[in-house]
Order: sequence, then structure tokens, then C-alpha cells
Amino acid sequence: MRVNDRLAAKLADLGVEVQHEVSLATRTSLEIGGTTDELILRRYDRIAEVMSLLANENIAWRFLGGGTNVLIGDGELSWVALHLASSRDGMRVEGNAAYIEAAADLGGAVTFCAKRDLGGMEGLIGVPGSVGGALRMNAGAYGTQIGPHVREVQLYRAANGTIETLRGAEIRFDYRHTSFAPNDVMLHVKLELPSKPYKEILAGIRVCNEKRRASQPLNQRSAGCIFKNPPGGSAGRMIDELGLKGFRVGGAAVSDRHANFFVNAGDATCADMLGLIGAVRGRVRDAFGVELENEVIVWQN
Ligand code: EPU
Repeated sequence: MRVNDRLAAKLADLGVEVQHEVSLATRTSLEIGGTTDELILRRYDRIAEVMSLLANENIAWRFLGGGTNVLIGDGELSWVALHLASSRDGMRVEGNAAYIEAAADLGGAVTFCAKRDLGGMEGLIGVPGSVGGALRMNAGAYGTQIGPHVREVQLYRAANGTIETLRGAEIRFDYRHTSFAPNDVMLHVKLELPSKPYKEILAGIRVCNEKRRASQPLNQRSAGCIFKNPPGGSAGRMIDELGLKGFRVGGAAVSDRHANFFVNAGDATCADMLGLIGAVRGRVRDAFGVELENEVIVWQN
């Protein structure tokens, strides 16, 4: 999908930088993804005008945050990738409230709050991605989820074409799922966090980091866990029990370290990864009668 020069000039007036023909493999932790134009939004307050310009030109879009939980199709993509630029003053703390922009790095936000003696998010330290992505997916690890800390979310609601603020109680945060619409764009969040001395938070962070290092393939290209855990079960354990660690389709492989992490072990394509996901899902279905649901978000044409 290409943005023409006339539209790029109008977008520039709204603080949008257009990068042509970007390989989204360079924007995702899996290093998989086809090519499209990327629009970097520097002014959150002009987002409604940007979206209305794109709608008038019939340009489809997807909002890409940290790119750490997404599998993007191969080849020329039929939509443009939108990305919020992060600003230098995107985080601030007032009492027990933390105000954080969606483009901020999640780990950076956890550390920022910790240094100001606000804890409760220790488990999220090693979850890669943006705060916006964490909100959308209700990211969680080691007993912590972001949802319970959310007091307000400011978002762009594509359905209404407006920027709105939702109170935490108006949002449903479930296991790796939220009540946000797929085309809602997270802009800012207000979190309420418990006071805790930095040293204590740091000790909790260290424990989580060690657990993660011991069980997850952190130095390989992945999107974290591929499947959600089924109720009461563990996708990783089931795949492991089937002896599928190291199983490959093209350049995509089940990690040797954690069986619910699928890694780009060479020049994996989206087709390879989808092939691997389908094959493993089938094996788990046959052996355990369980239909595994994707945790990774798949964006094709
Ligand atoms: N297990 C195996 N073999 C494996 C992997 C795991 O036998 O290859 C066993 C473990 O020994 C353990 C059980 O399965 O008894 C659960 O494994 P683990 O503790 O690694 O947790 P998980 O359920 O696989 C979940 C989240 C992770 C999160 C960790 C830590 C999901 C789908 N995954 O993994 O989140 O980091 O707990 O809290 O909910 C993600 O969301 O992308 C993600 C990685």
C-alpha cells in the first residue's frame, strides 16, 4: 500500500512522517512481515484528522505498537502501518498515579515507576512491547496483569472518530483479552500503583528476570507465547510432551527452550509460521482433544 505525495504532504501538516516501502520484518520481534508504507504520528491531538484523511482516500490501516506480539503477512501489504512516536516527557507520576503514553516501552514504564517508589508491576518487567500493546492484550506474567492497575485510558475510537477517556471500571480485562474494539487506538493511560520502596521492587524484578531467563528463549526472535493457555492447562507443557521442541516448518521452529515459543530460526516467512502453528495445533488436538487459541495476533492482507 502506497501513500501518494499529495496525501503525504497533507499528512505532514498533521505531524505525520511517511516512510515508504518499509519492511515490517524490521518492526517486529519475529522479524517477519511484508512491505508497506509506515506513518509515524507525532501529534496525538491530530489523530482524528489523520484517520479521516485515510478514510477519505480508502486507505486501510493497522496500528503497530512494539511489534512483539504480532505475526504479519508476507509480500506487499494492503494496509499501511501506523505508529505513535514516543515523546521524551511521556511518563509522569503524581502520588500513586502514573500517567503514561501508549507509545512508551512497557519495561521502561515499570522501571520509571519503580524509581519513584511505585510497585505492583514487577512481573511485567520482561514483557517486551509498548504500554499500548500491553493494555490492549492485558499483558501479564508472574502473577501480574496490567488491567487491575488501570484507572483511565484515553483512546481514539475509530467507530466514533473521536478521542475518548474510559474509566478503568468501563473496560473488561480478561486473560490476554480486553473489551477494546480492534480499531481502538490507545493513547494514554492512568495507572494507580501501590507505594513500595525502590529496593523492594528491584528485588522482585530480579526474581522475575531470573525465572524468565531460565525458561524462555530471550535471545531468539519470537513473539512470546504463540498460544493462550487453555483453561487449567499449559500449552507449553502439552507441546513439549508431544516431543515437538525443535520441530520446524521452513524457517519457523518450536523453541528448544520453551515449547510455546515459536522462533524465527532462519529466514522464516509468515507462511512458515502459520504452517507451524497449524501443524502443532493439529497435533495437540489429536493427542489431547484441546483446540489451542492463538495468543499472537495475525495480520495478513
Ligand atoms: N512447560 C514445559 N515445557 C515447556 C514449557 C513449559 O513442561 O517447554 C511447563 C513448565 O514446566 C510449567 C508449565 O509448563 O510447569 C507452565 O510453564 P511456564 O511457567 O513457562 O508458563 P507458561 O504458562 O508457559 C505463562 C505465560 C507467559 C508468561 C509466563 C510467566 C501464557 C500463554 N504464557 O507461560 O507469557 O511469561 O506464564 O508468567 O499465558 C506471553 O504472553 O507471550 C508469555 C510468554
